[in-house]
Amino acid sequence: MMKDDKFFWFKENRIVIPGVKGEHVFMHLTDSHIDVVDELSTPEEREKYDYQHELWAKYKKVFADKNNEPYGEPQMIPMLEAFEKALALAEELQPEALLMSGDILDNMHPAGERYLVKRMAEYPGPFLCVPGNHEDPALPGVWEMGVRPLECEGFRIVGVDDSRLTVSAEDLAALKALCDEGIPIIILCHAPFATSYCKEEMSSWDPYFYFGEDAEDENARAFIELCKTNDMIKAVICGHVHGYHALEFVPGKPMIVGSQGHAGAVDIVTVAGE
Ligand SMILES: [Fe+2]
Repeated sequence: MMKDDKFFWFKENRIVIPGVKGEHVFMHLTDSHIDVVDELSTPEEREKYDYQHELWAKYKKVFADKNNEPYGEPQMIPMLEAFEKALALAEELQPEALLMSGDILDNMHPAGERYLVKRMAEYPGPFLCVPGNHEDPALPGVWEMGVRPLECEGFRIVGVDDSRLTVSAEDLAALKALCDEGIPIIILCHAPFATSYCKEEMSSWDPYFYFGEDAEDENARAFIELCKTNDMIKAVICGHVHGYHALEFVPGKPMIVGSQGHAGAVDIVTVAGE
């Protein structure tokens, strides 16, 4: 069984949305940072692949140590193998949807894009993916531009691109319009944000990893304000930090920050009415 593979370590998370019937189980994966070479890769691309693998071999451990997370022999596998394991796990667990909150690719590169588009076309279940800061705003077939709702029974998971630590005016307007429809929303985005309620808990993080209510960017502030104050927005699922954190950004609204997928981190997220 893939779930017993020592590569994985799991965090169980629960999001309560009053009125939702039954239990809805999702698998959340983030920051897989895969690099790929194939028969069409150029010598420069192969060189970059080697460089990135050496770099991540070091940094996976740095992040794991910083966050007191598992890192041993089973986690020391190449990123592509790690991602293949995660997809096999998702196929085994059959979550209601596979949620991927960005930086699945370590950088935009032709072999990686070819691989991911093909692989996600083969994936047999529903999935929702948003871009990370290492990626472009769209990779058609895997993640797309704009606010992307995934309809569930009694709620929606809405993909929002905040990979540049802000949200575009168009996406903000689209998200507001979705909120006005009166269906509860869980946001799936790449980067976490800090509010006055949770910033203390995030104070040890490097500012590279989040944006706050004091952001210079007006849309960044407006996005945080909308998430805080709009009753339809119930929770946020994100990544980027390479360390697991379960916070509340206002009382009763959880923010689940998934850890590094290339080192075996997987979140199981259960959405239920109570
Ligand atoms: Fe990131």
